[in-house]
Amino acid sequence: MMVRLQKVIAASGIASRRASEAMIQEGRVTVNGKVVRVLGTCIDPSKDHVKIDGRHVQPTEPEVFVLLHKPPGYVTTMDDPYGRPTIADLVAKVKVRVFPVGRLDYDTEGLLLLTNNGNVAQACVHPRYHVPKTYLVKVSGVCTEEEIQNLEDGIALDDGMTAPAVIRKSGKAKANSWLEITIHEGRKHQIKRMLEALGHRVMRIIRIRFGPLDLGDLPVGVCRFATDLEANALRGIVHRTTKPLNVRARAPRSNLQRSKPDRDTGPPHVRKTKPSAKRDASSKGSKARPASGSARQPGRVVKGRGRTRTRKG
Ligand code: URA
Repeated sequence: MMVRLQKVIAASGIASRRASEAMIQEGRVTVNGKVVRVLGTCIDPSKDHVKIDGRHVQPTEPEVFVLLHKPPGYVTTMDDPYGRPTIADLVAKVKVRVFPVGRLDYDTEGLLLLTNNGNVAQACVHPRYHVPKTYLVKVSGVCTEEEIQNLEDGIALDDGMTAPAVIRKSGKAKANSWLEITIHEGRKHQIKRMLEALGHRVMRIIRIRFGPLDLGDLPVGVCRFATDLEANALRGIVHRTTKPLNVRARAPRSNLQRSKPDRDTGPPHVRKTKPSAKRDASSKGSKARPASGSARQPGRVVKGRGRTRTRKG
């Protein structure tokens, strides 16, 4: 993974970013034996040898946050003993070792965060930090107002009552309903179990938001680095401990109902991206995301706006 030279020096703890830049401009830094004076020069810390005043700089791994649009049919693990497709196949191009934050079921789709920041990962999945996770859920049958109230208040599961949730009726096909469900717990198969307790079979689950992160139009099977803004918001979770979901403060339900999705043409809110050469982020300096055609080529990485690879905190 290519990283800016001053970032590598600063991440190694030798100097601040500004002091690292000054060292480069003063000609004190060599890369593979050659003096580099140009700020912004990118190097590969796993291959290139950096020295300051002739002394070797030991690089540390940059901190990364990766957003993946997980397709169904992948296990949320980096290695599966049964040989099933894993999310590792989809983030193979991320050269830093990352691990998934929490899990999505084999058949669940949507936003999955991967990182090498253990503190952020732990905070994101611990109920104490109240990190909201929002899912679009297609269920068999039509949920009544009473059932929705039950889901919001808490459902008795075999491992205890669920915490308050926020439910929006997202749309309705002929025989099925789409719900937008926000929870801050992360129990195993929680959404499925909550709905099945009310007699509704879950047909599809797509996670569209995870804490401060939004799935947006990230194509299926594609990952990207978090923007600086997103990365800062994720780091902020670690310092925040009590922010429960404010179920009572939600708008009247009638205001929350969304436009009706076409019957079985797909979920509401999950935008389909149109193929376009311009959107291929592999072109240099592109801020755009790749075309949806590439969505069917799992394992691509696209650059977010201002991708984040900073020092491990
Ligand atoms: N709830 C589920 O039932 N499955 C998931 O993958 C996530 C939440």
